[in-house]
Amino acid sequence: MCGIVAYLGERNAYEIIIKGLKRLEYRGYDSAGIALATDNQIKLYKRQGKVSDLETYTVGKDLTGGTGIGHTRWATHGEPTDNNAHPHLSFDGSLSLIHNGVIENYSSLKQELISKGHEFRSETDSEVVIHFIEDIRRNNNCDLDEAVRLALTKIVGAYAIVIIDQNDPDLLIAARKSSPLVIGVGKGEYFIASDATPIIEYTKEVVYLNDHEIAVIRKDGLKLKNIEDVPTNPYIQTIDIELEAIEKGGFKHFMLKEIFEQPKSISDSMRGRLIAAKGHLVLGGIREYVNKLVNADRIIIIACGTSWHAGLVAEYFFEEWCRVPVEVEYASEFRYRNPVIRESDVIIAISQSGETADTLAAIELAKSVGAIIFGVVNVVGSSIARATHEGAYIHAGPEIGVASTKAFTAQVTVLSMIALVVAYKKGTISETKYHELLTELEIIPEKVETALKLDQKSKIIADRFKTATNFLYLGRGYNFPVALEGALKLKEISYIHAEGYPAAEMKHGPIALIDEEMPVVFIATKDSSYDKIISNIQEVKARKGKVIAIISKGDVLIPKIADYILEVPITHEALMPLVSVIPLQLLSYYIADLRGCNVDQPRNLAKSVTVE
Ligand code: AGP
Ligand code: GLU
Repeated sequence: MCGIVAYLGERNAYEIIIKGLKRLEYRGYDSAGIALATDNQIKLYKRQGKVSDLETYTVGKDLTGGTGIGHTRWATHGEPTDNNAHPHLSFDGSLSLIHNGVIENYSSLKQELISKGHEFRSETDSEVVIHFIEDIRRNNNCDLDEAVRLALTKIVGAYAIVIIDQNDPDLLIAARKSSPLVIGVGKGEYFIASDATPIIEYTKEVVYLNDHEIAVIRKDGLKLKNIEDVPTNPYIQTIDIELEAIEKGGFKHFMLKEIFEQPKSISDSMRGRLIAAKGHLVLGGIREYVNKLVNADRIIIIACGTSWHAGLVAEYFFEEWCRVPVEVEYASEFRYRNPVIRESDVIIAISQSGETADTLAAIELAKSVGAIIFGVVNVVGSSIARATHEGAYIHAGPEIGVASTKAFTAQVTVLSMIALVVAYKKGTISETKYHELLTELEIIPEKVETALKLDQKSKIIADRFKTATNFLYLGRGYNFPVALEGALKLKEISYIHAEGYPAAEMKHGPIALIDEEMPVVFIATKDSSYDKIISNIQEVKARKGKVIAIISKGDVLIPKIADYILEVPITHEALMPLVSVIPLQLLSYYIADLRGCNVDQPRNLAKSVTVE
């Protein structure tokens, strides 16, 4: 949700910020803006639309200066307009701020400021923050960093903010609570961003700001303190993301690149953890509390969106192999339901970004009642990674396309490994089955590689159905969550209405939708419910629906009844989601692209949802 970039140093801040905003555009893209502090003035340029619209708008303008802040917005308060775009100015125009998050008490603060004579230029909650800081500075006659600190003690909500001052251009002030912020430390220069991607081409040394921390940055140094005014020490870490990992590398879209990266990202998620021939399966991150998982009376999985679908696959793993009851919860529902969390329950939180506000809040809730939380997270050092007690990173590498693809398969892989570690320790899985699964997991990247050969065939099917207005996705058992994931992928990037259902549930309602116009995607690989799903396909055909079936290689029955088939390699039933999801990702990608949709930046969405 929203990208923040700021720079302080000898280079041209505008160039660095624009480039950084493009890298972060996946986080929000309804408007963009830049403010530069030089020559005792703030030069402010902002525009509704993409970063490229902002670039066009700034052609020929004065863009000099070595200190600046930039923002690409995902609107929460006020429509995406030029005025509502960030940065925002204080009432007197001397300060400027960018903000990611939501200020919950903005309305009362705004009323108070209006009664003092403030006028506002936007409808955002963010603008109120900078007016409030200005007011506090004037009333207390204090330094800006103290005014920021005092303001933050009164502000309720989530924020990552960066502020510049026209009267002190050698200064950046940044602070965060619940929204991410990373500071890149160069030689006599500093970079700030919502994640490390805009920073890595300049420096690999970074400081992740903690909640309630305020950074006061000048060319000659970085100082941190917390909201109680206690100085803290910056912990400088070296990150190992390479530039290629965040560029498109010849692919038309990040999503397509990420789909094709899956053989590698799945391997990376197992690297150093699994050696099938030796029966070796070790997850270094879940050693201390692993017995909590082994002895758990119940596992509660919390996540949102695609990560929630990975959680549903994991429910089958844990129940089948570990014989423990599992509940998979939408984080947003869980946190507001006064859930029953007992001491013998263990929580697993799944998140690609590690910044999803609902998931983070659900974790905090569970922690507050003493639960042990495991994280399955992609982004190293992210808020969720830090909020959990233990966890296993999925190591999928940066995922930039808004539609999650490689994170899903890496999550499922890591969750399968966690479940196998627990099942083995518990003795609820036979030696033979355990070794069989390890062997199969190890070679799954090759099967995913084979499934990717369905690329062109998926494109042909996509062309046939690109004008459809509805899609139904049906699967059973392990392929049921895959059906949900296939439907989500299609709707989020192509704007075609799609629903996923357990195939047998179709006859309890959705069957009424089926006519000759209705494409129905069956994930019908050979598993324990194969015969049953054939009957479900027949039911659709009897009503003249168009069937696209994902089938196991060598299947001779379904090709006789389905209209279109996509054949995937055979694997163990439990690991099939890793393979059967591939053609669904490709199908959605090509349908969206053929419809002319912006695949990497679908409307209304943002990559990480850092608001409730
Ligand atoms: C997936 O394609 C989505 N864009 C979305 O559902 C996503 O999975 C969800 O917002 C959760 O994000 P997280 O994994 O970063 O927590
Ligand atoms: N709440 C702020 C707004 O609507 C910030 C949103 C964002 O994080 O982009 O402008």
